[in-house]
Amino acid sequence: MARAARSIVTVADPDELARAAAARLMARIAAQPGRPAICLTGGSGPTRLFALLAGKLGDAIPWDRVHWFIGDERFVPADDKLNNMAAARRAVLDARAPAANIHPIPTDAADPDAAALRYQAELQSFYGADALDEQRPLFDLVLMGMGPDGHTASLFPGAPALEETQRWVVGVDHANVAPLVPRVTLTLPTLASCREMLFLVAGADKRAMATRVLSGEPLPAGRARSNGETVWLLDRAAMPDPSDGH
Ligand code: 6PG
Repeated sequence: MARAARSIVTVADPDELARAAAARLMARIAAQPGRPAICLTGGSGPTRLFALLAGKLGDAIPWDRVHWFIGDERFVPADDKLNNMAAARRAVLDARAPAANIHPIPTDAADPDAAALRYQAELQSFYGADALDEQRPLFDLVLMGMGPDGHTASLFPGAPALEETQRWVVGVDHANVAPLVPRVTLTLPTLASCREMLFLVAGADKRAMATRVLSGEPLPAGRARSNGETVWLLDRAAMPDPSDGH
C-alpha cells in the first residue's frame, strides 16, 4: 500500500465536521466486504459523530459485520466516566453493535502494560498474525484527536512510547495532560496500519497547535501517519492562518 500525502479538509463548524467524518466512515465500511475494523478515538472530538451514528444515519451501517476498537484508553474501570470506550458505548455502540464486535482495552488488568499486552493479543488474534504486513492493513479507519500539547492517542511529546517499533500496544504511566491517569495506547506503527487515518480537530483553542503540527513540527500528532491515506478534518475555527507561515 503506497503512503499517500497528508491531506487537509476544512469544514465550516463542528456539525459539518461530524457529517464529513460520518461520510468517510460509511465509505470505508462500504469498501470493505469482509469485517470492517474501525479504531475510535477518545476525547470530545467524536461526540457529534457518535450521535449521528446512533441516529438515522446509522441505519445504513451493517452493524453485524463492523468491529470497533479504541486507539487509547485511560486506565480507569470500564464504567468510569473517563473511560473512552465507555463513552462510545453509551453514545452509540451498546444500542447498535453486537457485544462481540466491541473491543475495549481491558482496564481490569494488573497495570497499564499488562492491559496493553492483553489488547495486543486481541488485535493480533483479530488480524490473524503477530506481525503487521504493510499490504494488509489492520484497520479500515483510525480516528484521531489532537491534544493541547500536540499529543494524539496517548502518545505524549517526548514519551518513550513514541519510539516503540515492536509492540502494538504499550502502557503509559504518566499522562502529560488531564485526566492525569495512566493510559494504554496503540503505538505509531499499529495506528499506521490502516487504509485511512482521520483526525478530527475543531475549535479555536486547537488552532495554534494545528498550525505547529501541520507546518511540520515533529509533535506526536504530526508523526502519526497512515500507511495509506492521512486526512486532517478541521473546522474553520481550528484552521491554521496562512499568515502563520502554513
Ligand atoms: C484521550 C484521547 C486523546 C484525545 C485528544 C484530543 O484519551 O484523551 O484519545 O488523544 O483524542 O486529547 O481530545 P479532544 O478531542 O477532547 O480535544
